[in-house]
Amino acid sequence: MKRVLSGMQPSGKPHLGNYLGAMRQHVALSNDKNYECFYFIANYHALTTVRKADDLRNWTHNLALDYLALGLDTERTAFFIQSAIPELTELTWIFDCITNVGFLERAHAWKDAKAKGKKDPSMGLFNYPVLMSADILMYLPSLVPVGKDQKQHVEMARDIAQSFNHLFGNTFSLPDPIIGDDVSVVPGTDGQKMSKSYGNTIDIFADEDELKSQVFSVKTDSMGVNEPKDPSKVIPFQLYKFFAPQSDVKEVEDKLRNGGIGYGDLKKKLFEALIEYFADARAKRAKLVKDPKFVADVLSKGATRAREVAHAIMADVRKKTGLSSSTTRAT
Ligand code: ADP
Ligand code: TRP
Repeated sequence: MKRVLSGMQPSGKPHLGNYLGAMRQHVALSNDKNYECFYFIANYHALTTVRKADDLRNWTHNLALDYLALGLDTERTAFFIQSAIPELTELTWIFDCITNVGFLERAHAWKDAKAKGKKDPSMGLFNYPVLMSADILMYLPSLVPVGKDQKQHVEMARDIAQSFNHLFGNTFSLPDPIIGDDVSVVPGTDGQKMSKSYGNTIDIFADEDELKSQVFSVKTDSMGVNEPKDPSKVIPFQLYKFFAPQSDVKEVEDKLRNGGIGYGDLKKKLFEALIEYFADARAKRAKLVKDPKFVADVLSKGATRAREVAHAIMADVRKKTGLSSSTTRAT
């Protein structure tokens, strides 16, 4: 059985990009008996941007509800909150001590922040890939499913594992990223990458009115109903194709190419397809909201399991680095 590990930041409401790029795959793997999954809500990572305690708390709880509503397995999966594992910050420090500043300066997220002229970027932002390496390597996974933009972080974790193994002896396995193949970048309502930070999201669990207004705000050009269009350039279609039955997708695609469907109609279809696609998840979420004990129990069981693994690996790491003695020394 292969061990899978991934995390998701509670930095707002999850959207269709998060779903297609990451959450859908996490849920599918958790339900496949060939895999043992460790998934966590990355609240330490979110703290690099979130500044209100209530927001962080609510988004953390809501993300747990979202995953469970989307069908995450709760029997075999260790599902937990990142900060419930205190060993993580210790491992991060140990990795800090063997990671060069120049290596971290090459991280995309850091380079982007610098390029965009972010004022006074924090140490947390700079150190983000080291924390992420610690939470990957701690659980000795073989696979890490992530969106395309996180691939570099998994590669950095492999590099840090190699440095540690080289310096202190073989300890960490080198995990492989899994990147969902049919989705690279899901477009947002304005056509750029859908992202919480661009305010262009369609949220998975938005209430119906909000969902409708998000769907109807998707950008389109001014072509008329009967003008032939290139489906790859029609943003609502680029979203519709993931959520509607394939026969409907084909029919709409033909109509776009040949003329015969307007953008208003297409958006209505997209809205209906989303309601239909997430109907079971919405119903399940409504039930879970009323059962906070169940959610708390799942997270607590997951943290206990994760800590068992963390505890064992940290005992080994402490010995190998000389932070603890490997033998009892005579005084
Ligand atoms: P956001 O940009 O909204 O803050 P995150 O950076 O928290 O999203 O991304 C969480 C996960 O969702 C990552 O694995 C990321 O690759 C995936 N993801 C986010 N936005 C998209 C998108 N537009 N298309 C595909 N995957 C995405
Ligand atoms: N940085 C990831 C994101 O923004 C979340 C994350 C934190 C993660 N730690 C991880 C993903 C470890 C995979 C493995 O999406």
